[in-house]
Amino acid sequence: MEQIIFDAHAHYNDELYSDAERNEVIEYVFENGVKFILNAGTNIQTSKESIELAEKYNGIYAGVGFYPHDCINITDEKYALNILDEITKHPKVVSIAEIGLDYHYDDTPRDIQKKWFELQLDLSEQKNMPVCIHDREAHGDVLEILKRHKNAKGMLHSFSGSRETAEELLKLGWYISISGVVTFKNAVKLIEVVETLPLDKMLIETDTPYLSPVPNRGKRNNSANLVYTAQKIAEIKNMSVEDVCNITRQNACRLFRINE
Ligand code: NI
Repeated sequence: MEQIIFDAHAHYNDELYSDAERNEVIEYVFENGVKFILNAGTNIQTSKESIELAEKYNGIYAGVGFYPHDCINITDEKYALNILDEITKHPKVVSIAEIGLDYHYDDTPRDIQKKWFELQLDLSEQKNMPVCIHDREAHGDVLEILKRHKNAKGMLHSFSGSRETAEELLKLGWYISISGVVTFKNAVKLIEVVETLPLDKMLIETDTPYLSPVPNRGKRNNSANLVYTAQKIAEIKNMSVEDVCNITRQNACRLFRINE
């Protein structure tokens, strides 16, 4: 079996790893079918860590940006935007990631989340750079905002909306990224999304170190586990695991403009 995987969303800089473990896990996944990883930032610090990983490993590309709940810590708006603008110029930064709205926790007022989501979408449009969107329990507002940013493009990470929401996003040209959640017992809604998701708009991701697929659910995740996610998608769409991996890899390379 020959599959070459692109993990469209991961956080290998996470503090759940010691430096030694981090290097060990990354080397392991690159020896086990994974060729590319998009490592997403959540604030300036983690975005810089993302870039450091991308400098160290050929197959790692960096996303930089402010995660919804990290926006509350921004004190100087202009300064924050300037730094973000500066670091997107690094040759291995291919995405503004991860940005969006998260209404699951009330840590950050919604108006602050929305303001930073739009500021970063504006930046992505100016730079013609794809974004990676975090949307948790905020599907209506995310869709409404994306409708106003016609020139923005990118992916919805660990998609958790309905088939109807997915169809609206597809009409606007967005990619839908499927995480290990699709292997969970209660994944009825996500399976429905996968059933009708066009192959040329589908991505796969781990969100490492979170969201490990069955049979490793609950354990710390890594990109090699994507084979289980791909297996589940292959079952749903009645195709081979190799095809799921190859098609999603080609999609991610096209979206992030990475030359294989
Ligand atoms: Ni993430």
